[in-house]
Amino acid sequence: MKIYQIDSSARKKGSTSRALAKKLLDKIKKPEDEIIYRDLDDEMLFVSGLTESGMNIDEKDQTEEHKKMFELSDKLVKELKESDIIIISAPIYNYGPPATLKAWSDLVARVGETFRFKPNGRREGLLKNKHAYLIITSGGTKLNSSEDFLTPWLKFILNFFGIDKVDTISADQMALDYNKSIKNAELQIQNVFSRKD
Ligand SMILES: Cc1cc2nc3c(=O)[nH]c(=O)nc-3n(C[C@H](O)[C@H](O)[C@H](O)COP(=O)(O)O)c2cc1C
Repeated sequence: MKIYQIDSSARKKGSTSRALAKKLLDKIKKPEDEIIYRDLDDEMLFVSGLTESGMNIDEKDQTEEHKKMFELSDKLVKELKESDIIIISAPIYNYGPPATLKAWSDLVARVGETFRFKPNGRREGLLKNKHAYLIITSGGTKLNSSEDFLTPWLKFILNFFGIDKVDTISADQMALDYNKSIKNAELQIQNVFSRKD
């Protein structure tokens, strides 16, 4: 099995979401698994010069900027497509996702790769048989409350790519009671079912 771990906190040292993602990885990985790691804080690009969703631009029409965008997008799409289990760690930033995670989703939304247009014009996800785990952290925002635009968005975007098995582990409201929040998250990790493969 391939496990893909994606971290997105802009904080490298002392990051809770990164530490919890590592704990979850240690809990679920088996010796024969391959781990693919991506730190969105190390390398990211915003989509630019596009007119529609799906990043469909003929090679001959691609500018230098487009080429760089496609190079990173190709890498990210490949990593996602070849993985069986995906762990995404993300802190809530200003009630939503870190900008790098939003940019990641824009680069991964590739027509013919991660989704397709159906004859009726609606979009359909192409990634099947994948299991995603989200590690969500926050200071004061309660998970899944009306102020949390990260968790529902991230679930929705993964569903859009076809990934419909999504479990969430959270250390939310850490600023209110850090120890309680971490204990709760660690309990959630302990309770993740052992894999049957
Ligand atoms: C730029 C920025 C924006 C933030 N916005 C919010 C927010 O809207 N709601 C919230 O509860 N916490 C917010 N926080 C606090 C972080 O969510 C919290 O410190 C984070 O979940 C910890 O994760 P980390 O240690 O992995 O970085 C923000 C932090 C930063 C750096």
